[in-house]
Amino acid sequence: MPLPVPVLPEGVDPAWLPPAAFRAVGGRRTMIRGSGPLVETVHGELAEACRRFGGRAVRDAVPDGAYDLVLGLGGDDLGDEGFAFAREDGTTTVTASDGRGLLYGLFHVVRLGEAAFTGARAREVHRPALALRMLDHWDNVAVHPVMGQVERGYAGGSLFWEDGRARRELDRVRAYGRLLAACGINAISVNNVNVHAAEARLLTDRIGEVAEIAGALRPYGVRTHLSVSFAAPITLGGLPTADPLDRTVRGWWAEATRRVYQAIPDFGGYVVKADSEGQPGPFAYGRSHAEGANLLAAALEPFGGTVHWRAFVYDHRQDWRDRTTDRARAAYDHFVPLDGEFAAGAVLQVKHGPMDFQVREPVSPLLGAMPRTRLAVELQVTQEYTGQQRHVCWLGPMWSEVLRFRHEQGLSVGEVARGGLVAVSNVGDDPFWTGHPLAQANLYTFGRLAWQPDAEPGAVLDEWIALSFPDALEGLTGGLHAVLDGSWRTYEKYTAPLGVGFMVQPGHHYGPSVDGYEYSPWGTYHFADREGVGVDRGVASGTGYAGQYGKPWAELYESPDTCPDELLLFFHHVPYGHVLKSGKTVIQHIYDTHFEGVEEVEEARAVWGSLTGLVDPARHARVAERYEEQLRSAREWRDQVNSYFFRKSGVPDGRGRLIH
Ligand code: GCU
Repeated sequence: MPLPVPVLPEGVDPAWLPPAAFRAVGGRRTMIRGSGPLVETVHGELAEACRRFGGRAVRDAVPDGAYDLVLGLGGDDLGDEGFAFAREDGTTTVTASDGRGLLYGLFHVVRLGEAAFTGARAREVHRPALALRMLDHWDNVAVHPVMGQVERGYAGGSLFWEDGRARRELDRVRAYGRLLAACGINAISVNNVNVHAAEARLLTDRIGEVAEIAGALRPYGVRTHLSVSFAAPITLGGLPTADPLDRTVRGWWAEATRRVYQAIPDFGGYVVKADSEGQPGPFAYGRSHAEGANLLAAALEPFGGTVHWRAFVYDHRQDWRDRTTDRARAAYDHFVPLDGEFAAGAVLQVKHGPMDFQVREPVSPLLGAMPRTRLAVELQVTQEYTGQQRHVCWLGPMWSEVLRFRHEQGLSVGEVARGGLVAVSNVGDDPFWTGHPLAQANLYTFGRLAWQPDAEPGAVLDEWIALSFPDALEGLTGGLHAVLDGSWRTYEKYTAPLGVGFMVQPGHHYGPSVDGYEYSPWGTYHFADREGVGVDRGVASGTGYAGQYGKPWAELYESPDTCPDELLLFFHHVPYGHVLKSGKTVIQHIYDTHFEGVEEVEEARAVWGSLTGLVDPARHARVAERYEEQLRSAREWRDQVNSYFFRKSGVPDGRGRLIH
């Protein structure tokens, strides 16, 4: 039986799957061949599209040549997710070895639209570059007193949890799975990496709730994972220890995991934040993080599950006076010595930069230094440090730079990420899913880059626009590009300069506070004084962080003369008069970029204003309203950052503009 397409609750935006996106597919004579649950999903999609647009979808008919589109399982070995696409003699065919591949093939045809049904096309094989394309939801089951329901969530409450338990109505979760499949995402974890007491029990007596969510996502090929606490044997199991080498602890995890698989046979595995920002971990027992991760890998191994062990381990109780400790170094220092010690079922999940999802960071050196470990790269789709979905900040170009970056041994980060590409989700129960309607583009782009890390982000944005606005009137596509394409660089211009990072208000991380973290324990300093600004991370005179890179990066980063401008203050403390490659002094660069950034927001706001009538009124109004806030906030950033550096340095603006 074809699986009915999930019904969107009243008032919820269809994001990149509005019915009209299926127009080209829905008007055809279609045949679907094969059997299995995901084939029923594909059939359901086509039946719904045909119902709307006048086509016909039949099942397993004898081919009589009269079909425009044939989708079927074939004997070819295309893997579980690959598909072949071709068009010959007026018939478009999609073949896959597995139902998931067929589903991805269907969405490929949807993306192509009319082009999938014109001319001839030689057979193309499409396979995801990365087997795991995952979203981590930092959702709390119960509303947390400080963090709210979704930690770093800017799109309302959780899609999964309400009133302290799994939602009873899961239509929206089904629709979410469908959106994820359409951009290639195949896994999610459903709870916060900071596992509070209520969430810890999801692993044991509350696993049934996780199973309900997993059941809603499964028809779209999305597997469910769970964040667990390393201390679970103590807090849930009543054992005196969580020591990874203790026999009873190992037995406890084995048994708990067996029960998880009883409830969810295709369960993906665990996500663990250990010895990080106060979470329990193996250090308490004098054990290494490989020993900790391998404990969970062993429990998951009989069922084929994976543990995603996060590398976000650093001293968050640092003394700002201590210049020998450098947070940027921490992940490398902790984990590189363990290369080769992680079990096959353990994936080390590494944030893309060494700090914490700043608008500009170098690529984590860890990603080039653990060839014998399965690594996953973690991005942040939720805009914690990039405007919190009140500012437009399309992150595609930044992620693309990261994924194309090559460490010494020649592999790009996208190729090194054998354990997958993971991102912190930006979705909540907001009617637009992402708070800011244009932040949907970030989620879509993440999925497509996880499928193909070297894809052109601009082309991905084109896809997103074509799907989301299938009836786009003249001018809309250009307008959307105008406001999105450069938005990351615009955001960078009016916030912390030249890679130095932070300067945000402590706690919630929104808006400027240049010294907000300067004397805090978090290790996020800029060291501005009257002479200059930046962190000396060189080997010769600084923290030595630059030495964690191989060639050519270690040398390039070591000297302020060769260090790329955009990272200069991340690697060096330089005088305000230091001349950048651009020919400007650092102080003049700070002033100029802050004025320009605000001007660019003003322009983008005007472009958006000119799109009234081309975008539905509710979406237009929501974005317009957010532009007011973005502009207010950008001015605040400009004035605080410029005033701060003017007061520190005493150097006037070369162009005589008003600095408060
Ligand atoms: C950041 C973020 C936290 C989060 C942490 C993590 O520090 O502010 O909310 O818990 O990253 O990635 O674990």
